[in-house]
Amino acid sequence: MANLKRISISLEENLLARFDRQADRQGYPTRSEAIKALMRQNLVEQEWSGNQEVAGAISIVYNHHRRGLTNKVTDMQHRFGSVVVSTQHVHLDHSYCLEIVIVRGKAGRIQKLAAALRSVKGIKHNTLAMTTTGRGTG
Ligand code: NI
Repeated sequence: MANLKRISISLEENLLARFDRQADRQGYPTRSEAIKALMRQNLVEQEWSGNQEVAGAISIVYNHHRRGLTNKVTDMQHRFGSVVVSTQHVHLDHSYCLEIVIVRGKAGRIQKLAAALRSVKGIKHNTLAMTTTGRGTG
């Protein structure tokens, strides 16, 4: 484990009480773990906004019967092949497919891919889970 530092901070009682309740609801075992998660979330956000090397997952749900849609989704992934690590395709039912595109690379390029997929008509839902390669988050 990395060297641990003990810190002391001052904050309003109400804020601490609300934070502790929320951290408990979210399942954090200790206040320290909850605060570390918040700090890391902030660092990940900085990586994304600073166009750093990041990782993530784009999830899309679409109806594969819609003419040309499957080809468009595939074309986009080829066009952005430098940031596409892997794609998992699940046939949800007779019509709908769930595709999870694992991405890694410059944040700006990944966001362009997510936007390009968002522009494809007929995709029912599209999310971008923004995470880190793990190197910049302590
Ligand atoms: Ni399918």
